[in-house]
Amino acid sequence: MYLDIKNIRKDFPILSQEVYGKPLVYLDNAATTQKPLSVIRKIEEVYSTINANIHRGVHHLSQLATESHEEARKTVQRYIGAASSKEVIFTRGATESINLVASSFCRSQCKPGDEIIITTMEHHANIIPWQIQRDITGIELKVVPLTGNGEVRLEDVEELISSKTKLISLPYVSNVLGTINPVAEVVRLGHNYNIPVLIDAAQSVQHIPLNVQAFDCDFLVFSSHKMYGPTGVGVLYGKENWLDKLPPYQGGGEMIAHVTFEKTTFNELPFKFEAGTPDYVGTTALGEAIRYIESLGLDNIHQYEEHLLHYATEKLLQINGMQIIGTAAQKSSVISFLVGGIHPYDMGMLLDRLGIAVRTGHHCAQPLMDALGIEGTLRASFAFYNTEKEIDTLIEGIERVVKMF
Ligand SMILES: Cc1ncc(COP(=O)(O)O)c(C=O)c1O
Repeated sequence: MYLDIKNIRKDFPILSQEVYGKPLVYLDNAATTQKPLSVIRKIEEVYSTINANIHRGVHHLSQLATESHEEARKTVQRYIGAASSKEVIFTRGATESINLVASSFCRSQCKPGDEIIITTMEHHANIIPWQIQRDITGIELKVVPLTGNGEVRLEDVEELISSKTKLISLPYVSNVLGTINPVAEVVRLGHNYNIPVLIDAAQSVQHIPLNVQAFDCDFLVFSSHKMYGPTGVGVLYGKENWLDKLPPYQGGGEMIAHVTFEKTTFNELPFKFEAGTPDYVGTTALGEAIRYIESLGLDNIHQYEEHLLHYATEKLLQINGMQIIGTAAQKSSVISFLVGGIHPYDMGMLLDRLGIAVRTGHHCAQPLMDALGIEGTLRASFAFYNTEKEIDTLIEGIERVVKMF
């Protein structure tokens, strides 16, 4: 199917504004995506018509709000191909989802000296939660090195596996390099050794179709705000047998079956992991964002964004002194780059004055920057509402800045 980008852009009111008198060119989609009107309106609709705390009320509004929240859970279940909606836990974001697994998994499954494998390309969200557990439970972190292109090789993962390995956690797509990792193969490899695998899908779930049952992954995490939904909502997918085995992450209302001062028994899945009032407005709006993505078709989105990636890569490489950081064979629509000796921050500031929003810095991946021997990069990341013309504007902007230096 052909995506009618001109019409699609009308669904995103923020995109039609000017910044410093220039049309906004928003190329920071890996940080967060813009929201379609249907999502914005859904938030208003929930607060205007059915707002009430969920699960606890017998009254009409509470029932409607509960239905709306649980419907969103089913929508997520369908979107990622989970076997049951019990396997979909709502959190505050990918970060909280990883913290949940790290805490519950390490406390219950690990002893001092046990090992967790991650990769050099992790976002801090997939490093620090494990380091916190390292200090509490005495686990150790093993880090898979990358190839010169910024790829994870299966043999390098296997090399790190030992009898002490308890879990492998890696991103589907790198938020810096754009690398698409062979996650299904890593899951197979892990399972050959009886090791569960967590996939950080924060940068893939909005770009590449996936099915958690086909992947057979044990855990998968992502954030709503990076997939056209609201901020403050995320998802943890976990296989039911794992979630059953793991202890609760936080305590409070909703996650309990029975409480006395002496002892508490816990609620069934998924509520065992959802302490307190969830963001039922946000989850409902996430459901709407998923429906929006589905109305365009994730395959179509993927195809169009691949086109943008190739178009931008070709054009960028024509600029003198251009260095693209991350040249994996399989890439998503994220391009990190450096130009000549220009500091990314200076380039980012000057592009901003031209209305172009790109990200600069270490992108929450300082260990990756250290491995690359650089301080930071510029990063342009594309969504389906971006156009070739916007990429041309980026190229002109970079050329203008290069001339100034
Ligand atoms: C690969 C990856 N993992 C995790 C996160 C954390 O997402 P959030 O800040 O929404 O929790 C990000 C955010 O940029 C990311 O790119």
